[in-house]
Amino acid sequence: MRITRASEAVGATVEDVDVNELSDQQFADIRAAFFDHGALFFRDQTLTPEQHVRFAKRWGSIDINRFFQQRPGYPEIAEVLKEPDQKLNIGGGWHTDHSYDEAPAMGSILYALDIPPTGGDTLFAGMAAAYEALDDDMKDRIKDLKARHGNAHIFGAESKYRKAVGDRYTNADQAGQTAVHPVVLTHPESGAKGLYVNPGFTLEIVDMDPDESKALLQKLYDHIGQDRFHHRHKWRQGDLAMWDNRATWHYALNDYQGHRRYLNRITIEGVAL
Ligand code: SIN
Repeated sequence: MRITRASEAVGATVEDVDVNELSDQQFADIRAAFFDHGALFFRDQTLTPEQHVRFAKRWGSIDINRFFQQRPGYPEIAEVLKEPDQKLNIGGGWHTDHSYDEAPAMGSILYALDIPPTGGDTLFAGMAAAYEALDDDMKDRIKDLKARHGNAHIFGAESKYRKAVGDRYTNADQAGQTAVHPVVLTHPESGAKGLYVNPGFTLEIVDMDPDESKALLQKLYDHIGQDRFHHRHKWRQGDLAMWDNRATWHYALNDYQGHRRYLNRITIEGVAL
């Protein structure tokens, strides 16, 4: 098994290993690399849905996503799908999964089944590297702040985005969760400090004037938006990517109109932050 850094700020590639056949030692090395790098990209995997579920369960209990269409027969597996005639993709903006939950999903494990001939890459951003690169004044300004996250504007019945995604999303009536988390997170496993706000689900900084909150969030987003904190994953069929939702953002690019892209995602339970 070879684990190599994918970029300075986030991610590592894992090769020459079959995730169905991991020894305890290999799994321990992979787990350590996951919390070190924030995301792992396994190449050349062959997984049935049952094997995908089994691999996910090695990490913890499964956190079933309430809003994604489930793979028929597999409630644990969320479908990330765009058909050739659909214009809008799922996850096409910077976000981190489930930050609107009190205990956001620890990680997401995405398996590539059908990848367009070109395009459809996913960008990842490293939150610890982005935090470390802030100047001391900004670190001091945000150190005790909290932010509110929510999901109604994405998954709720009134969401324009949800309407455009159509029946690839379900349970609009169950949307509306909000949760408050620290803006600077001490990672529950690695202890590293990282930024924990994201353009997809963060609504506001708590106890701050709305204009000031908007301006501060935008400043942090512009900072994290710099290429130096990113890795671009070019998918191949059989890739299995997994990311730590407390340490990364991701963004599925929508530049493959007229082609199918189909992946299966399982999210793993996390802890209150
Ligand atoms: C997601 O946001 O979970 C989907 C990412 C992708 O399709 O690459």
